Amino acid sequence: MNKSKQKLSQAAMPIGFWGRISARIMAIAHRNIYMNVAAALNLQPEDTYLELGCGSGLFMKKHASTAGSITGLDHSEDMVKLATQYNRKRVDEGTAEFRQGEASELPWEDEKFSAAAAIATFMFWPEPLESLREIHRVLRPGGRLVVSLGWNADDGKDHTKHINKYGIKLYMGKEMQAMFQEAGFSESSITYSKGFMMPKLIIARAVKE
Ligand SMILES: C[S@@+](CC[C@H](N)C(=O)[O-])C[C@H]1O[C@@H](n2cnc3c(N)ncnc32)[C@H](O)[C@@H]1O
Repeated sequence: MNKSKQKLSQAAMPIGFWGRISARIMAIAHRNIYMNVAAALNLQPEDTYLELGCGSGLFMKKHASTAGSITGLDHSEDMVKLATQYNRKRVDEGTAEFRQGEASELPWEDEKFSAAAAIATFMFWPEPLESLREIHRVLRPGGRLVVSLGWNADDGKDHTKHINKYGIKLYMGKEMQAMFQEAGFSESSITYSKGFMMPKLIIARAVKE
């Protein structure tokens, strides 16, 4: 692991014992986000679902059981192991797969998935547009993407502490829509909700034509 990766916080890249603990705590704190994302995705048995920055994989265990297959990617090897552990039954059945990797360089062929989500992770990504282009590439026509942003530039909060501590980037809903369009998505929408200590949670949804 290079030095810049070692410096990343447990939220940006959970590793080791504390990483596994913080991933479980995150899953509890993100309960409301998970419910909003699940509603926006509306996963069905025919869906092949991809989750970027999947962390513990607990969203998939709790909210993606209806999808025909689930696939998770995370740049933390420890999160890949944890997500595999939490979704062991599906991995053994052959309907779940977890891989280590970067959101900007997806290891799958074009049009493999019908739905994708990035939950509480997009603000950490160093190459947001490249990553959206990659997600667009691996989604099939009609495929949908849901991105949740608990901390964002529309929520009226001073995020200086978070920016300094976690190195996050903040986006407005309309910036997300502009990026979706630039990445090739044909339609998009923004809805606002509330999460734990998140006054204005963004749920951004885009569809590939
Ligand atoms: C705050 S955690 C959220 C985890 C999970 N989505 C959840 O809501 O419980 C952010 C996750 O995104 C992963 N991550 C951050 N940047 C990434 C990148 N560029 N590519 C892949 N994974 C990334 C981290 O390792 C971490 O597991």
